[in-house]
Amino acid sequence: MSETPSRCCSPVDGMESDPHSLRVLVFAPIGRDGPASAEILTRAGLTAAICTGLDQLLAELEAGAGAAFVAEEAIVGRDITGLLRWVDTQPPWSDLPFVLLTSHREPTAVAAWRLEIVQRLRNVTLIERPVQPISLTSTLQAALRSRRRQYDLRGFIEARERTAQELEALVAARTAELNASNAQLRDEMAERARSEEQFRLLIQGVTDYAIYMLDPEGRISSWNAGAERIKGYAPAEIIGEHFSRFYTDEDRAAGLPAIGLATAARVGRFENEGWRVRKDGTRIWAHVVIDAIRDDAGGLTGFAKVTRDITERLKAQKQLEEAREALFQSQKLEAIGQLTGGIAHDFNNLLMVILGSLALMRKRLPPETGAALSLLDNAVQAAQRGATLTKRMLAFARRQELKIMAVDIPDLVRGMADLLQRSLGPSITIETRFPLGLPKASTDPNQLESALLNIAVNARDAMPEGGSITIAAKVATANEPAPGRYVCLSVTDTGEGMDPETLARATEPFFTTKGVGKGTGLGLSTVHGLMEQSHGRMVLASRKGIGTTIELWLPVASAEAELPPPADEAAAPDATEALRRLHIMAVDDDGLVLMNTIAMLEELGHAAVGATAADQALDALRREAADLVITDHAMPRMTGAELADRIAAEWPGLPVILATGYAELPMGIGANLPKLAKPFSLEELEMAIRSVTSAEAPDRPG
Ligand SMILES: Nc1ncnc2c1ncn2[C@@H]1O[C@H](COP(=O)(O)OP(=O)(O)OP(=O)(O)O)[C@@H](O)[C@H]1O
Ligand SMILES: [Mg+2]
Repeated sequence: MSETPSRCCSPVDGMESDPHSLRVLVFAPIGRDGPASAEILTRAGLTAAICTGLDQLLAELEAGAGAAFVAEEAIVGRDITGLLRWVDTQPPWSDLPFVLLTSHREPTAVAAWRLEIVQRLRNVTLIERPVQPISLTSTLQAALRSRRRQYDLRGFIEARERTAQELEALVAARTAELNASNAQLRDEMAERARSEEQFRLLIQGVTDYAIYMLDPEGRISSWNAGAERIKGYAPAEIIGEHFSRFYTDEDRAAGLPAIGLATAARVGRFENEGWRVRKDGTRIWAHVVIDAIRDDAGGLTGFAKVTRDITERLKAQKQLEEAREALFQSQKLEAIGQLTGGIAHDFNNLLMVILGSLALMRKRLPPETGAALSLLDNAVQAAQRGATLTKRMLAFARRQELKIMAVDIPDLVRGMADLLQRSLGPSITIETRFPLGLPKASTDPNQLESALLNIAVNARDAMPEGGSITIAAKVATANEPAPGRYVCLSVTDTGEGMDPETLARATEPFFTTKGVGKGTGLGLSTVHGLMEQSHGRMVLASRKGIGTTIELWLPVASAEAELPPPADEAAAPDATEALRRLHIMAVDDDGLVLMNTIAMLEELGHAAVGATAADQALDALRREAADLVITDHAMPRMTGAELADRIAAEWPGLPVILATGYAELPMGIGANLPKLAKPFSLEELEMAIRSVTSAEAPDRPG
């Protein structure tokens, strides 16, 4: 490669530029032969160099020559080993022409030597004396021509060698390059294999995602551990199968798998969520991404598919939504409850006044006013219906006074069998299903009865053509409203059922589908209130056209909550016993109610004084003794229960009756006090007074 092109292509140039290459060395040291022939040759245009001794001849030969003209007598009998060695060690292309000048008169010994020398010098032409100048010139010209051909040969050989060397260098360089790039390729392949292995391990190691490849037709070509975990198939079972087998029958029928591939092929990626079927037939809600894989030329080589099981997330989302909805519902009911409770409380007081006044008016009307009496009775009846309504409203608002105890549900249902059948009519059959040994439930039995009646009447209304009602109970653990064991009492009908909107609103107070005057919409709200107050809950399930199931979950009663033994009959007040005239202190912050109570007490023949606040009552008691105090509970500054405590401390034994419109008493407070539910009738007031005073008359405070 480093050679120059001129030397490579013109080998003869090198020879011509060498001044010695075509000279004739003349070695004829004896006599005049040497100079004479040199002159002849020079004249013929050749270059001649005269050598005077063998050593010089050798030195000139080393310097370069085209031919050697040697007189035989100059070498015969002499030691010419140096010359012969020179001849023998010529390069392969070289065969220096020798022109040997002989003489035919030589002895035979010389002739023999000559034969040998001709062979040893190899390229020898004999020329015999006397030599014509023309013979000499032409012989040497011929010798030089042959020498020239040798130089040509040398050029070619050298050129060939150079070419061979260049070729070799080129091959060596190429080989080195090739080796280097081979090594690089090997490294790259090893690196690629390593990273492919790492990638494979990574993909294999992922178990949260199903990662697999599809061929362009959708057949599975690889399968990772996540895919096996999520879909349930081992690689051997699934590789080569079509991926559409993971879709549901409906989705397959709708052509979803093909749409997924077509979309990915068109826009590069397809992403969606949907149901997928596992090997065992169960379904998972999956998030799916399909990516199209293309080669460098843009041809579709397949698809990469990544699937994630998000069933749990979906479930959690659903639960969250349900919890939110439940919270919203309960907050709404709470708000409505507060409003209803407030209204009912005020109405209750008003009804109390109306009913009390009507009762007093009735007593004072002369007996002959017949027509007016029946009007009055109408008014009393209407006010009583109003009172029932407010009671239900208070029940919904969880403000009714409950007598929570351990209730045997099967007993309770059996006890109201007649009532139920009568209320539902003959076209409806009632079936009951109770397991043996059902534990007792903790609730108010009277309220539970009216709740059951409410639910049964709803069922009847939903089955105008008749049907059946199944009342069942079971014991189960539940987490709501608090973790524990519950008795689940259920009422199932085969009626028209409710659509989702009706179902969602059924427990709202005043929500009814029964038309004005037919339903108050307070039935289920009352049941709801009872359940809340019993620390249980009501669950509604209904399907339009199929029927409705209403479940009442009541806590299993603890042993202490067993029914208290019935009160000693002897201690019960004797209703026939005439009441003695008592001094009674009435306390109520509502002036109207207070006036009404005082009027009723006076009607019963007692002397009554009133106070509109607890501290006022205490002052009055300090001034003038009383036999009994009847007090409202919810009053500003000091409640009725607190007043009772103060009275018990200052005048032990002085009876106090708490008149309450609803269960406003916090747990435990005033529990030992006799109570009178508002609105109360004259008779109820009388009964209450009897119950606290018929026992030996207490000392009047004074
Ligand atoms: N078993 C049932 N089947 C179908 N719908 C029902 C059933 N129970 C209740 N509902 C629906 O829920 C609504 C509310 O019931 P709820 O008992 O609170 O009030 P109501 O029955 O309409 O009135 P009221 O109880 O005062 O007579 C009903 O109007 C009805 O639409
Ligand atoms: Mg109802």
